[in-house]
Parts: sequence; structure tokens; C-alpha cells
Amino acid sequence: MEFFLDSADFSEIQEAWNLGVISGITTNPSLVAKTGEDFHDLIRRICHLVDDGVAVNAEVMAPDADGMVREAAELAAIHPNVVIKIPMTSAGLQAVKRLDPKGIRTNVTLVFAPGQALLAAAAGATYVSAFLGRFDDIGEDGAAALADIRDVFGQYAIKCKIIAASIRHPVHVLQAARIGADIATVPFKILKKLYEHPLTQQGIEKFNADWAKGS
Ligand code: G3P
Repeated sequence: MEFFLDSADFSEIQEAWNLGVISGITTNPSLVAKTGEDFHDLIRRICHLVDDGVAVNAEVMAPDADGMVREAAELAAIHPNVVIKIPMTSAGLQAVKRLDPKGIRTNVTLVFAPGQALLAAAAGATYVSAFLGRFDDIGEDGAAALADIRDVFGQYAIKCKIIAASIRHPVHVLQAARIGADIATVPFKILKKLYEHPLTQQGIEKFNADWAKGS
């Protein structure tokens, strides 16, 4: 499973990129708005920070297909790394269909059901973002929804990749891996929880103490 970072915070992205374990970045309108930065400038800076070929996801805001395609063309012109995030709507499907022949990669987001994911793939989406946490936020099982999507995609040779999104804790990451999501897009604080373990820290402290005694 690949790891993307779910963030628009440039300093977080720099720190996470330096770990050497992420192969993409997903921003969304809420994350970008929090930064207070100019959207296009921020996406440009992120694209130049990471290696060529790393997916840098930027979301369109227009409600209609023409507007989405127009915004997508402007975003895609920033850098070849840019992937266009498009919400799972009728207009979004039409926009994906029009962008695919142009070679513009798309990530259909806010996907919660297998039918939505199948339609996104049929339209030519490069990725679908299957949300887990927002199900859990309302007391439902996000992992079950992701498993449904993985199951139906597995019936066919569907090229579209499944991104497990809306990750709330490390268990979501493990669930995504066990289900077979292609990618998990993880907030930085969760990424850190994945590699920080109390027993690891305890072991390092003991090794250091024993080494100091012995030396
Ligand atoms: O950025 C897409 C998705 O990962 C956001 O999820 O529910 O944490 O806003 P959420």
C-alpha cells in the first residue's frame, strides 16, 4: 500500500516528504483554506518540493462541468504532478470524462458507496477517494464501505486506484491495508502515530542505558 499525505500545510509536507515514505499529497478545500495561502502558489510550491511524478492533488470548486474543466486546466498547467480532485457528482463525472482524453489525471473524492466508485472508474478517474472517518463520525463502519468498494473493483480489471481517505487513527490505516486499498492518504499526526510506538521508545532508552553502562 502506498502512503499519501493528507495535508496542505507546507511545513508538514516538507517534514513528511523528508521521511521518504510518501508518494503523493492530497489537499482539499478545507485544508487549503486553513493555510490562508494563495491556492495556486501553494500547489506550485508543493509540486516543486517533491519529485517529478509525485501526485499532488488539488480540488476544483466549480459546481458545473464546464467550470470544473476550466479550473482543472488552470491547475494542471501549474505542474505535471498535479492531479485534479473532483467531487462525486453528475457534473464531476462529466468533467472526469472530458479531462481523461486530455491526459489530466483525476481523483474523484467524497466517495462513500461502491456504485459511486464504479461510476467514477467508468468515467476514467485515475483515483477514487473512499472516505472512512466520516462514516465513523456518524457511528457507521467506514471500513465496511471501503471493503465493499475493494470487492466490486476486484471483480473486474479496473485500473482506477482506491485511496483510503478521511483517516482518523492508525487502525484506519491497518484496516485499509488489510482490505487492500492501493493508497492511504494520512494526516501528518496519524503518520507520526504509525511510526512512534511506546515499546520502541522504551527499547531505545534501555539500549542507550545499557550501552552507557558498558562503555
Ligand atoms: O482530503 C480528503 C479526506 O482525507 C479528508 O477527510 O474527513 O478528514 O476531512 P476528512
